[in-house]
Amino acid sequence: MAFWLRCMACGKKYPSQEIRYQCDCGGLLDVEHDLEALRDVVSKELFDERLGERDLPYASGVWRYKELILPVDDDQIVSQPEGNTNLYRCRRLSEWVGVDELYLKHEGGNPTGSFKDRGMTVGVTQAKRLGCRAVACASTGNTSASMAAYAALAGLSAIVFIPEGKVAFGKLSQALAYGAKTLQVKGDFDDAMKLVRRVCDELPIYLLNSLNPFRLEGQKSIVFELIQQLDWRTPDWIVLPAGNLGNISAFGKAIHELCELGLIERPPRLAAIQARGANPFYRSFLTGFKHRERIEAHTLATAIRIGDPVSYPRAVRAIHWTDGLVAEVTDQEIIDAKAQVDAAGIGCEPASASSVAGVKKLVEEGAIGKGERVVALLTGHLLKDPEVTVRYHLGELEGLTATYANRPLTIEPTLEAVREILEEEG
Ligand code: F0G
Repeated sequence: MAFWLRCMACGKKYPSQEIRYQCDCGGLLDVEHDLEALRDVVSKELFDERLGERDLPYASGVWRYKELILPVDDDQIVSQPEGNTNLYRCRRLSEWVGVDELYLKHEGGNPTGSFKDRGMTVGVTQAKRLGCRAVACASTGNTSASMAAYAALAGLSAIVFIPEGKVAFGKLSQALAYGAKTLQVKGDFDDAMKLVRRVCDELPIYLLNSLNPFRLEGQKSIVFELIQQLDWRTPDWIVLPAGNLGNISAFGKAIHELCELGLIERPPRLAAIQARGANPFYRSFLTGFKHRERIEAHTLATAIRIGDPVSYPRAVRAIHWTDGLVAEVTDQEIIDAKAQVDAAGIGCEPASASSVAGVKKLVEEGAIGKGERVVALLTGHLLKDPEVTVRYHLGELEGLTATYANRPLTIEPTLEAVREILEEEG
């Protein structure tokens, strides 16, 4: 099966073996597949037959859709495996957000605890195919954790650029533990991103941020998998957190390709949710995308603390393709939604909960109907950021209310003390 790179701005084509992240004109690149030829090859039945495979590549929830992702020889694939994440249906959360049919696609179930593994299995596979020996990324934490793990698996050296003091502890510990050279940049994510782009232009190091179109091919599998889990019934909405805008771009491309291939009849609508303090995409949306906004970002959801997202043009296209929309939620709304997801026994990291907070808000505003089928994406695991969780329950998050606090209690080591507490609480 053939695939190549194509500039989304000027249409110029490049061979897939070329190391490049942007077109000569500055436009962003897509991996393009021969959809005409694929129409005779892929089907729902083919993907359903592969469910339950124990061996790689099809045991992976990414490589199950190999023809639509990266049709390479099986022995080239670097996979943990990843994907096959749960699609939860939770009555308590449905009631809280106000829709009858709410599903939570939990990408925290991936090997390193976030959706990044789906892109990284493809990005690192491509790095090996290109003969690269070192890979790099800028990251708010999850990309670096994932890249470090997949580089270790593939025997490549990994260099991560993270904003100093702004990365949740679980993620920083992963980058160190998996053996990546970890560079803490004095600045924010946007500074780290600029730096790593220069580094990868000048040095023989392969860039694995979502600017790299191969990453996005892997992340498309989230959409493929959740629709397959719904027995190929298309949801009305897919709602997801948006930071650097890689994932929303991947989702738009996945939906576009499924429609082109006739695997679904109508596109689900995408809703991208940003934190109010890190909302450049929302601000651009309000101008009808006439202006590309850039800001200095601040939010307690450090994963999406991004002011100048690199995939902006691809994300605008995704919103247009799917008749989608962009919304913003406050840190208070994010942290309360997280407390609800956590208390349902599911759990997620702060940025992830912005999708659930977003559904609630869009239902209240009337954009999402109570009777619509909604999938909210949970992007990362609860244990990624234990500090925010504990500080919330202790009521120690500055400027925020611990609406659903579950405070720990300290007691004497006596049965009497336990009795007293249980009686107090009734
Ligand atoms: N949720 C989580 C948990 C993330 O880690 C990220 C991005 C997003 C949502 C937003 O996805 O960037 O594709 O719009 N994390 C990146 C990182 C930036 O470095 O780990 P996006």
